[in-house]
Parts: sequence; structure tokens; C-alpha cells
Amino acid sequence: MPDGSIRHFLQLADFTRDEIEHVFERSRVIKDRFKRYEFYQPLRDRTLAMVFEKASTRTRVSFEAGMYQMGGSVIHITTGDSQLGRAEPIEDTARVISRMVDLVMIRTYEQTKIERFAAYSRVPVINGLTNEYHPCQILADIFTFIEQRGAIAGRTVAWIGDANNMAYTWLQAAKLLGFTVHVSTPPAYALDPKLAPPGPHFKVFDNPRDAARGAHLVTTDVWTSMGYEAENEARRQAFTHWRVDAALMKFAAPDALFMHCLPAHRGEEVTEEVLEGPQSVVWDEAENRLHVQKALMEYLLLGRDVH
Ligand code: CP
Ligand code: NVA
Repeated sequence: MPDGSIRHFLQLADFTRDEIEHVFERSRVIKDRFKRYEFYQPLRDRTLAMVFEKASTRTRVSFEAGMYQMGGSVIHITTGDSQLGRAEPIEDTARVISRMVDLVMIRTYEQTKIERFAAYSRVPVINGLTNEYHPCQILADIFTFIEQRGAIAGRTVAWIGDANNMAYTWLQAAKLLGFTVHVSTPPAYALDPKLAPPGPHFKVFDNPRDAARGAHLVTTDVWTSMGYEAENEARRQAFTHWRVDAALMKFAAPDALFMHCLPAHRGEEVTEEVLEGPQSVVWDEAENRLHVQKALMEYLLLGRDVH
């Protein structure tokens, strides 16, 4: 039977602003302890199952390292090496795995797949990326912004490129945390209003330079996300003017940051000059996946009773 009482993190909007702020505060404490080589192992005897139906470097390493650092252990499965690839129903997989572990992270295709898994899970489920959302990455991105520039409320973020899982999660964050996203996509790759119902937290611009104007953060992502590879060539042509280069960065605020969830394709969505330039914080952004996810796992498993 589905259990509606378990807390999951299937999209950013599953959390309140207060919960996200708690996770950021704990991320700061956990990161600080990690940097001082202090043991912090509140998840001893806890096990995380990670289910990957798409490739990953950062997500796998950050969850796996994070769980071990907090005293727990990890099981890694993929479609190819599990019965998921042989059509065992998601609901059956969820009921079995969640009787054996304490927490599940899933990277897959449709959001409905993790929703179905979560509905039958006895333990919290974390979205490690779906076609629609990438909430762990946005936690890391906003935590990085706050570290570098202070509160994000009232600021402007420019999203340049594809209306993908990262874009939709930025929009959820803007609504929850009180900032504005300026979105510019090629006309044929515009936001889906079902995933981005209009609101004051975002504005759409035809020209990427108008979106970047005055922004405190400029961010982009690959032109072709995982699962859309068949569209690669058409996308390469359509997105040519949605490349973040030094000329585009000049339209942003003088101290604007540049972020990219990585992996990046230099010369496509971002130039080498911007990615490796002084405004880019992509390596801190990647590292912060570790710290925010440790705080997220701590919150889902232990709540706020932590020190
Ligand atoms: N940014 C991100 O999620 O990277 P991976 O695909 O390497 O996990
Ligand atoms: N939008 C990209 C993000 C990869 C981390 C994808 O879904 O492939």
C-alpha cells in the first residue's frame, strides 16, 4: 500500500522555504566540519540505495562519498545490472528495495517514474535527476551563490539555453526563495507552461542579451540533455545564439557569477573563456553537491534533531 506519510525530495517544491534554509544552514556546518577533518557520522548503520538509469559522475560520487563520510553505506544499481532493465515493475522494485535500505536516490527519465517509486517506498526517495527536475543540483547552486554573494532573495538569475530539468528547478527555487529568473531559450525549445505556470518569479526574453542584462548570476546547461541525443544535430543549430560567452557576460552585473551544473561542452553552451574565467564558480558548485546532499540526507533521516 502507498504510504503518504514519508517525506520525499522528488522536486524542490516538496520542501518549504524554511526547510530549504535549514538544509543550507546544515550544509554550512557539515562543510565546515569536513574542511577541519572532524568526524561527523550520524548515519552509522544507515544504507542508501542509488538507482541510476542515466550516466553520472558528480551525483554518484557526491552521494556515495557523502554517505560513507557520515558513517553509512551505499548500494549502486543501474538498469543494466538489475531487474529494472528486465521490466520488473517500479512498484515492486520500490517495495523490495525500501524494505532493505533506509534511503533511496534515483536518477531516471520521467518524473512519474520516481513518483510511482516513492508512492510504494517505505523510506524517503531523493530525485537525483529526472527529465523534469534536478533539485539536488539547485540546492548546490544556491548554496554556492549564498557563500559567494549572500542572500539570493531579490536577486536576478539569467537562464540561457534549453528549457530543461535545471531550468524548471530554477523556476521552482525562485518562487520558493523570492528571486527572479530571466529565461531565454530558442523559440522551438521554450518552457512548457505545464511545468512553468506563469508567475512574477520569472520573465521570458527572446534575446539572451536581454535576459542577461543586470543579472547577478548567469547560468546555462548542455544543449542536449540525457535522453534527447537523437535531437543533437537540430539542437546544435537552433542553440547557436544561446552560447554564454564573454560578450554576453558583459550584459550582466559587473560582479555576476557564472554557473553550470556540468558536464560542460566548451564551445557549445559556454566558451572556455567564461567557464575557466574569474566569474565562474563551477568547481565550488560541483563540490557543494557533496555538502548539501549530506545535509539533505541528514534532514530526511534524522529531521532537525541534529547537532
Ligand atoms: N551535475 C550533475 O548532476 O552531474 P552528473 O551527471 O555527473 O551526476
Ligand atoms: N540537463 C542535463 C543535466 C546533466 C547533469 C541532463 O539532464 O542531461
